Amino acid sequence: MSKILVTGGLGFIGSHTVVELQNEGYEVVIIDDLSNSSENVLDGITAITGKTPIFEKLDLKEKADVEAFFAKHNDVVGVIHFAASKAVGESVQEPLLYYENNISTLVYILKELRKLPSASFIFSSSCTVYGQADELPITENAPVKPAESPYGNTKQIGEEIIRDTCKITPSLKAIALRYFNPIGAHESVEIGELPLGVPLNLVPFITQTAAGVREQLSVFGDDYPTPDGTCIRDYIHVVDLAKAHVIALQRLLEEKNKENYETFNLGTGKGSSVLEVVQSFEKVSGEKLNYKIVGRREGDVISAYADTTKAAEELGWKTKLSLDDAVLSAWKWEQKVRS
Ligand code: UD1
Repeated sequence: MSKILVTGGLGFIGSHTVVELQNEGYEVVIIDDLSNSSENVLDGITAITGKTPIFEKLDLKEKADVEAFFAKHNDVVGVIHFAASKAVGESVQEPLLYYENNISTLVYILKELRKLPSASFIFSSSCTVYGQADELPITENAPVKPAESPYGNTKQIGEEIIRDTCKITPSLKAIALRYFNPIGAHESVEIGELPLGVPLNLVPFITQTAAGVREQLSVFGDDYPTPDGTCIRDYIHVVDLAKAHVIALQRLLEEKNKENYETFNLGTGKGSSVLEVVQSFEKVSGEKLNYKIVGRREGDVISAYADTTKAAEELGWKTKLSLDDAVLSAWKWEQKVRS
């Protein structure tokens, strides 16, 4: 049984990926500092898979602790690195916190991986690296645009650090996965997204509004050059996204990669407007959503959705679940959290 380290494994995407790894027979060790997650997530993972992953509460900014971890777990063959701060607005206020949390931790892990005879590394990147792409759908060859925020910059710099390290480390193979908009929850309703405070992302805001936690959803702008005037995104079910991580990891472990650093878009390929997401919610939940149109949000791109050809051809992966599936699972999760 190969041992895989999942950093940030108690977070939203991390926990769903741990489930898929365990379902595929991997032994998982999680590192998480619990800064934006809870140890209770382990119970959810155990309820779904019948197995409890090893958990090490550790702050990856502590270099000596990272070294000690790899000395203890010297049989780790792969790392999926989720642990990072991700609030765009906060990153503008606290850039050094973001560079320290997201960059220094990555450097410490890569330093340890260079010491191993062979290592496979999967990095959580984001479609945010493309900014407002000139052509849609967005392929992996679309130019990386200047980052809009320190958060976005940490993803761009992170990719460059990995690429440069792979160049000089033949024993290290890496894939950066550029996520579009992950939403939803596991169908068991044992794990899901747990946003701290007021959610910034659309779907948690919708479900919290319907649950009565928020009064009203503000739709940020209906005067964009799109069919209904609201912004378009590619919303991907977190379970589809999690499965892609396992497939990407397997590609590296089985040495099927074409280069030792690769990038893949993870999206559905289908763009949905904000109002289409609201309609999907109203359809699957049977609830009327209280929303109003307000002004645009600063920094929003008009439209972003993935070209999924490379992931389909190279990974043999494509999404199976629909927007309705994802929104319904998010709603069931919200109801469970509030019950
Ligand atoms: C946001 C981040 C992005 C990050 C991603 C992670 C910004 C500018 N971008 O992307 O860097 O990688 O989350 O998931 O914060 N919307 C509303 N009302 C709301 C919330 C959102 O109308 O209360 C709209 C937005 O204007 C946007 C769409 O819903 O058009 C999706 O928003 P969101 O979930 O925040 O995702 P992104 O903006 O794509």
